[in-house]
Amino acid sequence: CGTNIAPAVGVNSPVSVPSDTVDINWDTIGFGLVHTDHMYTMKCSLGGSFSKGELVPFGNIELSPCAGVLNYGQGLFEGLKAYRTEDDNILLFRPEENAKRMMMGAERMCMPSPSVDQFIQAVKDTVLANERWHLVSCFRYPPPGKGSLYIRPLLIGSGSVLGLAPAPEYTFMIYVSPVGNYFKEGLSPINLIIETEMHRATPGGTGSVKTIGNYAAVLKAQGAAKAKGYSDVLYLDSVHKKYLEEVSSCNIFIVKGNSISTPDIKGTILPGITRKSIIDVARNEGFQVEEREVTVDELLDADEVFCTGTAVVVSPVGSITYLGKSVTYGSHGVGLVSQQLYSSLTRVQMGLVDDKMGWIVKL
Ligand code: COI
Repeated sequence: CGTNIAPAVGVNSPVSVPSDTVDINWDTIGFGLVHTDHMYTMKCSLGGSFSKGELVPFGNIELSPCAGVLNYGQGLFEGLKAYRTEDDNILLFRPEENAKRMMMGAERMCMPSPSVDQFIQAVKDTVLANERWHLVSCFRYPPPGKGSLYIRPLLIGSGSVLGLAPAPEYTFMIYVSPVGNYFKEGLSPINLIIETEMHRATPGGTGSVKTIGNYAAVLKAQGAAKAKGYSDVLYLDSVHKKYLEEVSSCNIFIVKGNSISTPDIKGTILPGITRKSIIDVARNEGFQVEEREVTVDELLDADEVFCTGTAVVVSPVGSITYLGKSVTYGSHGVGLVSQQLYSSLTRVQMGLVDDKMGWIVKL
């Protein structure tokens, strides 16, 4: 079960990858954090631009207690995945979309951001430097739907501030972790509860960017939902409390016959890259897809509901509870449309079919 792996070369500092390999049980790994060998880091000052990044051993970072991210939440993150193919290639899925989304978010949060090229190069360097975490000898080819390398880019205000202002210095980092399924249900349908009191985002706020605070804000409702046995929370719009927005960590779609609908992007919803890709995949497969306001009442009438996101991929929904009443989908099995779209997308991501859309970046 041991394979020697050639040294990986980082941008500025060549790093050696230990020759021992790590065996991962992809059936049980879930979405827990597994520490890997190296992380990427690059700094820049306010008003400047990022220039020289480097790979360093994975570990704790030093931050002043006055850092902008700690005091005023100036921080963004991204999420993308690398898949290893049967013929030993490593594939990234649409990394330029993550780079562009980080740039948009940085603009909203008054931060400088790496260029698209810098972002993609940093992702490639980090994935290669941690190759042994993906190239696992006993489980060399994770079965479809079971394993990938999750890549987490971060952009934080690392400089010190006291008065409310943008931090004087910024740090861009990337770490990676091998992951399996996000929800403990695996690919089985998840059960959602609609939150009626708390909201994830408000018009004019930061709901459409991947700022860290958006995710802290959903923990309370998510914790309460999990304590009652639900998988996660589905949010409604904060003004009318009747239009679907998104789940804590993913976008939502409803299926009715040949028609698929998802809430439109209007400032309060994260523009998911999996969301955007599923819309294209579904249209290519003959579905009529609408991005529009979707009312909570439409859930009653839907044939299927599914969620999309980098971490969750395409997750079928088995039931939704709203004001004490539950509606169920797919007789507790995975709906046919959810299954079809999941397979079509993951076959592209895993390099099992031709990449007609030009979404794959091969390392
Ligand atoms: C992702 O899907 O990459 C996300 O950002 C969700 C995260 C909360 C795990």
